[in-house]
Amino acid sequence: MSDAWAPIEGAPRRALTELMAEDGRLDRLRVEEGGILFDFTKTHLDGALVDGFVRLAEAMDLHGARERLFGGEVVNPSENRAAEHTAERGQGHPDAVARANAAKARMRALIDAIDADALGPMAGVLHIGIGGSALGPKLVVDALARDQARWDVAVVANVDGAALEEATDGLDPQTTLVAIASKTFTTAETMLNARSALDWLAANDVPDPYGRVIALTAKPAAAVEFGVDETRVLPFAESVGGRYSLWSTIGFPAALAMGWEAWEQLLEGAAAMDRHFRLAPPERNVPVLAAFADLYYAQVRRCETRATFAYDERLRLLPSYLQQLEMESIGKSVTADGRALGRPSAPITWGGVGTEAQHAVFQLLHQGTRLVPVEFVAVAEGGDAQDPEHHRQLLLNAFAQGAALMTGRAAEDPQRSYPGDRPSTTILLDRLDPATLGALLAFYEHRTFVSAALLGINPFDQFGVELGKEMANALSGGEGGDFDPGTAALMQRALGE
Ligand code: F6P
Repeated sequence: MSDAWAPIEGAPRRALTELMAEDGRLDRLRVEEGGILFDFTKTHLDGALVDGFVRLAEAMDLHGARERLFGGEVVNPSENRAAEHTAERGQGHPDAVARANAAKARMRALIDAIDADALGPMAGVLHIGIGGSALGPKLVVDALARDQARWDVAVVANVDGAALEEATDGLDPQTTLVAIASKTFTTAETMLNARSALDWLAANDVPDPYGRVIALTAKPAAAVEFGVDETRVLPFAESVGGRYSLWSTIGFPAALAMGWEAWEQLLEGAAAMDRHFRLAPPERNVPVLAAFADLYYAQVRRCETRATFAYDERLRLLPSYLQQLEMESIGKSVTADGRALGRPSAPITWGGVGTEAQHAVFQLLHQGTRLVPVEFVAVAEGGDAQDPEHHRQLLLNAFAQGAALMTGRAAEDPQRSYPGDRPSTTILLDRLDPATLGALLAFYEHRTFVSAALLGINPFDQFGVELGKEMANALSGGEGGDFDPGTAALMQRALGE
């Protein structure tokens, strides 16, 4: 593997402005797929680097890894599991696709029944989940279903009671469904929030609080044991990872709020990206090219972070969704076979919303000492009813930032000088509709998979979060005295325990 990195690490470091002036660059490094233009022209990728990464991908058998992913083979060796999120959108081993379709049919039947008022005249959903059981549906509802007529959807993840209070504030307990979303159905925050939500219904004279509950889980027996009626348990496969589970029944509130046709379009948009990822040659394959750029900056230029800015209010939750997807998947210091990684893991993912971020954090991006590759995500067609000048200004700002980062500007006064040569990628959606959003999110999943494959990391486990959970449980169980004196003193001071 180290041999394959040598040509990448030794490639000449050419300036972005020089690269941009080359004939054919726009044709080579702009790819349109699924109603999205992926523009890598302002990255340092050039023919030599792409060739080097293609060789690395061959050395790391990316092709085999991808076929194993879609073939339903074990790609998560530490948990001895396949990773079958693509089967949820019809792309994968036929058995997994059949299982996913059966679960989907069950979800559709329940949604049809709810729409027909089988549970009474409902108008709100309180979705309770955390991490992958919340971030995906929350993003999709916020992006595509905030203005729809019937459903008020509130998502609560944090165990902080203030979060639950805020979520329930806008909901009428008489007409609210409670969706408990947990793959394991054991996550402490979700279980406590679920119990408190049931208390909220009971305190508001809802006669049968449990009759309002829908469970979205890979552990249906645990949901039934919790008290959810079997007819309202929507299972999904154990082989669907938490942060990849939006497409499964975890997406229930999005499917309910958007309507079934739009939900199917979201899945089909993702499926189209799956097919592209599987079939396109590496130099025209958008998740592959994006991962090449990510790896170049993290591994060769040693960038510690990558920033994604959504230049569209509808996508304001994208950075937090990406943080879990990328950092929980590739934030690991050992390879899939347990050896030390020996190089940086994934960069830290962060970001915000343009243009707000320009007036807060862009100073560092333009003039700070750290190199931060930036990703601009914008939508050509606006989603607001204001003077079109608003949307025009939004897009112009995104494009101006990318150009300024690249070209910089020299000045006699060092304070007023901009070094330039700072890379960015622009992802421009034609419009924000279900299919395009599905394609975008599937792109991000596959980009993460490629980075992991080229580093030799298993992107589908997350043991890093277990120790903290165990310690919180131990503290909760009154074992504060067994902890270090600093922690024990904090317990004593804040909780008197
Ligand atoms: O603690 C991390 C994690 O396991 C995530 O991977 C997952 O998305 C989240 O917790 C929620 O887990 P569950 O869906 O089992 O409640």
